[in-house]
Amino acid sequence: MCQRLFSAILSVGTAIRGLPLPIFLRILHLQSIFPNMDFLTLAKKRYACRTYKKQPVEPEKLAYVLEAGRIAPTGANRQPQRIVVVRTPEGLERLTRCTRDFGAPCALVVCADTEEGWIRRSDDKRISDIDASIVTDHMMLAAADQGLDTLWICAFNPEAVREEFALPPHIVPVNILLVGYGDGAPASPDRHAETRKPLAATIVEERF
Ligand SMILES: Cc1cc2nc3c(=O)[nH]c(=O)nc-3n(C[C@H](O)[C@H](O)[C@H](O)COP(=O)(O)O)c2cc1C
Repeated sequence: MCQRLFSAILSVGTAIRGLPLPIFLRILHLQSIFPNMDFLTLAKKRYACRTYKKQPVEPEKLAYVLEAGRIAPTGANRQPQRIVVVRTPEGLERLTRCTRDFGAPCALVVCADTEEGWIRRSDDKRISDIDASIVTDHMMLAAADQGLDTLWICAFNPEAVREEFALPPHIVPVNILLVGYGDGAPASPDRHAETRKPLAATIVEERF
């Protein structure tokens, strides 16, 4: 095992030794920033975090998360999401009047502008909640990519959110995403064998 690992390291070393120094250094640098994490590895690593350290979220990491939300797709590209970033002690105190307090240092209250979301004419379905949720999912996974933990919350009092965060009538709160650093052991990335249904329970081929 050790020998195989050693020869793998040697052959990688031989392969990259031939590269010009700037490219070699660049590879090393990129490797340290982006440890080899493919999408499924990242998605399995993410878990619903319900206890947080007080440690604040670095502004550049928050900016990365918000950018992931900005570029998310929305129906007809209407971008009806409106996100209240809550991270001051006063704001977080307000949040405790709307939902259970998990102690996170940052919350993103993802709302939808009901006047902007696309409406499906055949049944008048307004899809702004779907848009807000795609944005939330993008941000949640971007946070995981930054080594942050999150909790997606729908169990909140929408009227309390409206009052505490001064939402105008056409803005509806859809999701709250807590962001921070988890306190305690993270959930195992291998938990899905037990915690998720098998594909056969959720996929049908062609027709029900
Ligand atoms: C749309 C949505 C709403 C959720 N609402 C809550 C919530 O209100 N409170 C909570 O503790 N967890 C909430 N969760 C977290 C889920 O309970 C959690 O993702 C699920 O149990 C799977 O666990 P895992 O994320 O650790 O794999 C929500 C997740 C989603 C996707």
